[in-house]
Amino acid sequence: MSDRPSVAFAWPVTASVGPGLEGAVAATTRVSSVGERGTLEIRGVPVEVLAGRASFEEVACLLIHGVRPTEEMRDELRAGRHLPEGVAAMVCSLPRDTHPTRMLRAAVSALGCFEPPGEDHGPRIVGQVAALAGVVARHRRDLSPLRVEPGASIAERLTAAIADGPADRVLVEALDLCLVLYADNGMDAPTFCSMVVGSARADPYYNVVAGLSALRGPRVGGASELILRALLPIADATAARTWVRNRLDAGQRIPGFGHRVFRAPDPRVAILRERAEALAVRRGDRRLLDIARAVEEEAGARLETRGIHPNVNLYAAVIFHLCGADPEMLPCLIAVGRMAGLVARVGEYLAHNRLIRPLCRYVGPAERRFVPLEER
Ligand code: COA
Repeated sequence: MSDRPSVAFAWPVTASVGPGLEGAVAATTRVSSVGERGTLEIRGVPVEVLAGRASFEEVACLLIHGVRPTEEMRDELRAGRHLPEGVAAMVCSLPRDTHPTRMLRAAVSALGCFEPPGEDHGPRIVGQVAALAGVVARHRRDLSPLRVEPGASIAERLTAAIADGPADRVLVEALDLCLVLYADNGMDAPTFCSMVVGSARADPYYNVVAGLSALRGPRVGGASELILRALLPIADATAARTWVRNRLDAGQRIPGFGHRVFRAPDPRVAILRERAEALAVRRGDRRLLDIARAVEEEAGARLETRGIHPNVNLYAAVIFHLCGADPEMLPCLIAVGRMAGLVARVGEYLAHNRLIRPLCRYVGPAERRFVPLEER
């Protein structure tokens, strides 16, 4: 039995929610709680506890299955890395300067053509999207897909795919942490889009393409690309402060700031700041970190009082950069992480599916006479 309340409605409908469905509850969930108390808890475990202690694969299994992962679950997750040859070949046939998110979207669509139609939102899709992101990252640099190393984790393979040289442990751990912290974000636009398509009983690959399409937008995961692209050419912390002031004075947004649900500081930011700090020291390259810190301080001074704080993207961009990723790749890396929560939440919803179908309030003219063309 579903725990979903069945609410019949009658005309005229009076219930309403804010623009962008702000404040609307679209589903009940046991997957995670995001932002309710300024916290993020995955299956009841605070993200601060998971960060650095649980790998992305463990967190993905926790999200999807609700229990500590077993070896079988992890194998199921990793099984996705065995891509049909035709899919990798399709990606490699695309122009190398195609935006990586376009390549990833096309690749997931192509993958759906090789999969039997079904509704299984299993963890394998997470492994598949990770493997495809790796193929995309390599194709951009004119490199053939990585060989499948049986024992390698998703983070190891992804770091190897984006790094210029061999992926060292510190980079793998930093990338893994980012995947953990991106794994779930509640009913965000990608997850909701995916859920809407799923509720029509389309198959998982249609749902994932819908989610990836939303994630690419600059209001969501695309913000990570924008912030890294903006920070890279800034010379130093002073120039960073000027950049913030100029943008805000011109009425523009600062990518990497703001969140619909977190009106207090997002707990992921402190974790990522600390890791970015450690990584920058280790790499002997603090330039981008110092610039990001200046942006945080300057924008914080102007935006904090309005409940706009740095979000997960600000310091994740620094970490991804130190791992070797270029700005355009960032939304694809985020997609790998987010896929875990998306698969978990869509699967949870579809277990008691009801077509998602809200209403619109008509505000046009009450009655108009229609004149056929020949009488006009
Ligand atoms: N920088 C400057 N101002 C911002 C801002 C930002 N990053 N985010 C929101 N605002 C301002 C808006 O300009 C708007 O101002 P106004 O009332 O004077 O017009 C006000 O806050 C409300 O904006 P709105 O888009 O309605 O708020 P929201 O709560 O729906 O916004 C986001 C959530 C994420 C869409 C928004 O914060 C944003 O665009 N952030 C930048 C992109 C980003 O980092 N996205 C990743 C989110 S995890």
